[in-house]
Amino acid sequence: MIPLPANTELMADAEAMARAAAEHLLAMTERAGSERVAVCLSGGSTPKRLYALLASPGFVERVPWSRIHWFFGDDRVVPWDDSLSNVRVVRDAFGHAAPVPATHLHFIPSDLGVEAGARAYERTLQEFYGSDRFDPNRPLFDLVLLGLGNDGHTASLFPGKPALAEREAWVAPVPEAGMEPFVPRITLTFPALASSRSVLFLVNGASKREPLRRLADGEDLPARQVRSAGRVTWYVDREAAEA
Ligand code: 6PG
Repeated sequence: MIPLPANTELMADAEAMARAAAEHLLAMTERAGSERVAVCLSGGSTPKRLYALLASPGFVERVPWSRIHWFFGDDRVVPWDDSLSNVRVVRDAFGHAAPVPATHLHFIPSDLGVEAGARAYERTLQEFYGSDRFDPNRPLFDLVLLGLGNDGHTASLFPGKPALAEREAWVAPVPEAGMEPFVPRITLTFPALASSRSVLFLVNGASKREPLRRLADGEDLPARQVRSAGRVTWYVDREAAEA
């Protein structure tokens, strides 16, 4: 087995991981009591099963939909009905079963373009937060979900790209993606991801063995640079963890 990141919980398979992640999210909402909670969703294919689970019988009635605000860690600058859109992935998964109030789904306005969309999303986050400066004692997100790209990226923070160095802005334009799909992206920056009570990476499948090994070898990949005011937890399935 590959040496895994600190705070890794090994999962039998992708389904077990999705179910554990759904329970993790529900436990977070219970800890929040009657307060509103902010969840930052990751893109890509890994979390699709989690999103579908949340809207499925056995979970949909347990999710406090009226208290959760859903945000996105990144998105591709494509039309919202494009299969590459992370908003499309979530909307398809939640479908009509998940009673998400329209005011609670805060998607990245990729239709404005990479620069204007990034600025507009930063304003959305700051209006929700109530300030344009992070208070370390008041994280923006209750939970940030992240994936691990095969090149070690997370959100749309790609190795060697300028957005990695952004320490002031909350959202950054990514005109050139470092991996397919090679379309422009808009991404939260490390400071925005760090303004969180907890971060949960979801990693499954054989294609993740390479980035996990590179992380184990100490490479300072973007995924390693993610911080949180709380705990950074990894859910890794056995297929990804095999040597
Ligand atoms: C995106 C994601 C990205 C993703 C990883 C893993 O928009 O692509 O935010 O960071 O989480 O690339 O993607 P998979 O889950 O598809 O392997």
